[in-house]
Amino acid sequence: MTAAAGTTGIGPVLCVVGARPNFMKMAPILRALAGHRPPLPALLVHTGQHYDAEMNDRLFDDLRLPRPDVNLEVGSASHAVQTAEVMKRFEPVLDTQRPSCVVVVGDVNSTLACTLVAVKKHVPVVHVEAGLRSGDRRMPEEINRKLTDQVADRLYTTERGALDNLRREGVPEDRVAFVGNVMIDSLRHHRELARAPADTLRAHGVDPALLDHRHGWGVVTLHRPSNVDDAATLADVLGTLAEVAARLPLVFAMHPRTRANVERFGLQHLIDPRRIVVLPPQGYLEMLGLVAGAALVLTDSGGLQEETTALGVPCLTVRENTERPITIEQGTNTLVARDRGAILAAVADIVAGRGKRGRVPELWDGHAAERIADDLWRWLRSREEAVA
Ligand code: UD1
Repeated sequence: MTAAAGTTGIGPVLCVVGARPNFMKMAPILRALAGHRPPLPALLVHTGQHYDAEMNDRLFDDLRLPRPDVNLEVGSASHAVQTAEVMKRFEPVLDTQRPSCVVVVGDVNSTLACTLVAVKKHVPVVHVEAGLRSGDRRMPEEINRKLTDQVADRLYTTERGALDNLRREGVPEDRVAFVGNVMIDSLRHHRELARAPADTLRAHGVDPALLDHRHGWGVVTLHRPSNVDDAATLADVLGTLAEVAARLPLVFAMHPRTRANVERFGLQHLIDPRRIVVLPPQGYLEMLGLVAGAALVLTDSGGLQEETTALGVPCLTVRENTERPITIEQGTNTLVARDRGAILAAVADIVAGRGKRGRVPELWDGHAAERIADDLWRWLRSREEAVA
C-alpha cells in the first residue's frame, strides 16, 4: 500500500491508472494523499492497458510512481475487449480491498471501465479532469469522458468552462470542484530534472548538431486513429511533416500504433532521416526537455496541448477540435487540423518570431493535487458522518 492505512479510519483511496497519459496525472495525487495531514491511505491499481517499457516502465521511474499494488495486465485489444477485460479483472479488486472511493483520471478506456464497475458496486467514483468536451463523438475518449462524468460522485475540473459542459449534461453542480491541473503539477515538479535534448539524441546515436539549427527544432507526436490508421491520410500527414522539416528539423517521438502503420503501409521513404529524427516513445524527463526547448510542437495529443501552454511553447494541434479550449483562448495552442497550408503558414509565423505566447491559465500553479487531497478528505469525512 502506498500510504499507511488505518491512520484516518477512512478506507483506502483506490487510484487507477491504465495508459501513459494517466501516469503524470496520478503521480502528484498520490504524493498529495500521502502528504496530507492526516495522510489518506492509497492503493495504486494499474490496468495494464499500456504495458511495454517505453509506454510504461520508463514513465513510472521518471515520475517516481510507486509500483502498483495490483496489476490487471489487460494489454491491447479492441475497445470492447479491452474495456470488458478491465471490468472483469477490476471487480474482484473492489471486493478484496473495500476502498473508500475509486479515483480515475482522464479519458482512456481504463477510466470508464473502472468507473462502471465501481459505481455499480456503490463505491464512490472520483473523476479528475472532469468536464472536458471536444464535441466529437467519433473520439473514443469523448465517450469515455461523458459517461464517466455522468456517474461519478465527485468531479474535479481543470478549467472553469468544464463546469458549463457538466451543467449542460445535467450533472449537479455541488458534485463539481475547480481545482486546477494535476498534469501541470507534474510538469512543475520535474522541470528542473528534464533531460538535455542533446543527451536524448546522443542516447539514440543521433548527432545533436541538428538541434543547433538557426530556427531551433520542432517536436512531433501523432497517434490518433483519425490521423494514423488510414494509409492515404498518414501519407498526407508525413508529406506535410517533410515540408515543415524543410524549415526546421523535427524530432518525432513515435507512438507504437503510428510506427506499426508506417511500416504496414510502406511509408518509411517519406521520412528523411537528415531532417526528421524518429525516436521511440520517450520518457517523461526526455520529453520535457525536448518540448521545453522546442520552437514548436506539432501534435494530436491531449496532454501536450496543456504542457506547451504551461511552458509557453507554440503548439499546432493536428485535430479539428479540442476538449481543452483554454489552451487556445489563453495558451499557445492553435488548431490546424491536417490543413497543409494552415500548418505551413503557422510554422512560418513561428519561425519569424510571431508564434503565440499565451499565459498560464488559472490554478495551473503546481498545487492542484493538494487541493484535491484537501477536498477529498473533507468529502470522505462528510460521507462517513452522514452514514454514522
Ligand atoms: C490510448 C488512449 C488515448 C491516449 C493514448 C496515449 C484510449 C481509448 N486511448 O490510446 O486516449 O492518448 O493511449 O498513448 O484509451 N501498444 C504498444 N505498447 C503499449 C501499449 C500499446 O505497443 O504499451 C500498441 C498496441 O499494439 C496497440 C496500440 O499501441 O494496438 C494502441 O494501444 P491502445 O491502448 O489500444 O490505445 P492508444 O492508441 O495507445
